[in-house]
Parts: sequence; C-alpha cells; structure tokens
Amino acid sequence: MGKKITVFGSFVVDLMGRCPHLPVPGETAKGSLFKMGPGGKGFNQAVAAHKAGAEVTMVTKIGNDTLADLAIQTMTGLGMDTKRVFRSEQTETGTALIMVDENTSQNEIAVILGACDTISDEEVESISDLLDQSDYLLIQLETNISSVEKAVEMAYSKGVKIILNTAPVQPVSDSILSRVELITPNEVEAGILTGIQVEGEESAGRAADYFLKKGVRNVLITMGSKGVYIATNERRGLIPAYRVDAVDTTGAGDAFNGGLAAALAEGKDLWEAAKFANALAAISVQRIGTTPAMPERSEIDAFIQLHETEGLQ
Ligand code: RIB
Ligand code: NA
Repeated sequence: MGKKITVFGSFVVDLMGRCPHLPVPGETAKGSLFKMGPGGKGFNQAVAAHKAGAEVTMVTKIGNDTLADLAIQTMTGLGMDTKRVFRSEQTETGTALIMVDENTSQNEIAVILGACDTISDEEVESISDLLDQSDYLLIQLETNISSVEKAVEMAYSKGVKIILNTAPVQPVSDSILSRVELITPNEVEAGILTGIQVEGEESAGRAADYFLKKGVRNVLITMGSKGVYIATNERRGLIPAYRVDAVDTTGAGDAFNGGLAAALAEGKDLWEAAKFANALAAISVQRIGTTPAMPERSEIDAFIQLHETEGLQ
C-alpha cells in the first residue's frame, strides 16, 4: 500500500480553442477546434496522481452551477472521493480561457478562479482529519494564498510532507518556504522567485541554492526540453526529458507534478520519481486537453519500458 496524498488546489473548467496562430491584441483569429473539459492545476495534478495509481484525496471548491457538475462527474467517473469538495453559494465555478497555437503548441491562458479563490480558514480547518491520515500534501498557488498558507501550516504541524508547485507564480513567503519538503518551479517561476534567470544547469544550480538556504529540503526545477534539475543538500544533477512531438503542452507541468507525487508515495527516490513524472508529461503533451490527457498507469509503464528497450530519449 502506497502512502496517501492530499491534493489541495484549484478546479476550473477549461474552455480551450486551437488556432493556426495566437491572436495579437485587437485581432480576431479564426480557430479550428473548441473543447470544454475539467482542468485547474490542482485538479489536473490530482487526476494525474490518481490515474498513476496513488491514493489521492482532492480538496477544492466549486460553485453551485452547471460548470461545477463537471468536477463531480469527473471525480465520480474515476472513483475519486468528492467529500472534500467545498461549495460556494455566492461565487461561480472557476474557468480558464485557453488558446493553443496548433503549429507550435504554445498556449495562452487566462484563469478566472471563481470559487476556488474563496477557500475560507474554516474550510481548511475542516480537513484536519484528512491531513492526519496523509503522508503528502501536494499544493499549488492557484487558490487564494491565505488558504495555501493555512494548509501548509496545518500540514507541517502534523508532519505531512509538503510538495509545493509554484504555479501560477506569485510571491511565496519565507515561512512557507521553510516548511516545504520539495519545491517544483519551472524555469520561469524559479527565475521570478529567486531573481536568478534560469537558462541551464549552472543557473538552475544557483537558483536551487537560494531555495535550499531558505530551508526547502529538495529542489526540482523543470526546464522543458532541457530536462529536470534536481538539487538536495547531498546530491544534484540533471535528468533529461523524453523527446516527443507535442500537440498541446497545456497541463504538462501538472502531469509531471501528479506523477512525481504518485511515485514518491510509492517509495521511489526523487531521481526515479522524476523519470516517472517525465513520462507522464511526455504522454500528456501528445494529447489535446489537460485533465483528459492524463495517462493510465499501464500507459506510463509501457512508455517507460519502450523508451528503455529502444534506448530512446
Ligand atoms: O496547468 C494547466 C491549467 O492551468 C489548465 O488546466 C488551466 O485550468 C490553468 O489553470
Ligand atoms: Na495535453
């Protein structure tokens, strides 16, 4: 039996349009495909970890509207517990307006957090018993920061290991950093949080040192096709990314973080876990959408095996 993960974060409905090019301000560009589906960084990560085989409980907040149904339907369909999904009567379910360039697979996202920006202290306190039974808290910066701070404090006081994915990036207090077991910024976020522009292994190392000095125990900086840089006080190095043709990179970071948490919960070390997480990200970018792009465990294992036997990267 693996360890238990609580994912605390956003659910939003993704409204995604693919276009031949991303429109510039003032331009109307004709798109080629529209899809509506479940999303939000927290939700994507929870589903990724769950499908990878982990025992996951999702904590989030939705409105009392038809968009909210998509959260409940998706979780029920996947056999996930919906007991920790809070409801707002005042604020609508969050949405994300996503545009994807069908040639470069680059995206632009405006996220309107709605209900998941209104998680109260009382709601966070109500998950105390859940945290008592959890080994990991996987959390992002896509709910109101007061809820992140409160959840981190509670988890830390109970000895739960905190994995902080710093997306969407915003200032993180030193007190939060000092409580974090593993921080997982991408290179842009690492640059903004540390003031050190991350371009490769050397600058990633300096950014990692910044976090380690703040008391973060393990640092993992994702650098897209350049791979993943890991630094702890004992060991550091780069793990290469798998090379695949991307059709939609939206949610790839979430696939990675969910996979990472699932692998750690299984007892893999951070290096093995990062390899496993790389596979989830590589599969997810070959599929359109975010939550719906997360792979089954059997697909992840097959992908890793194929790349090992063929010696492919
Ligand atoms: O990381 C991708 C997610 O970010 C999307 O699902 C969208 O909801 C945005 O919040
Ligand atoms: Na995708």
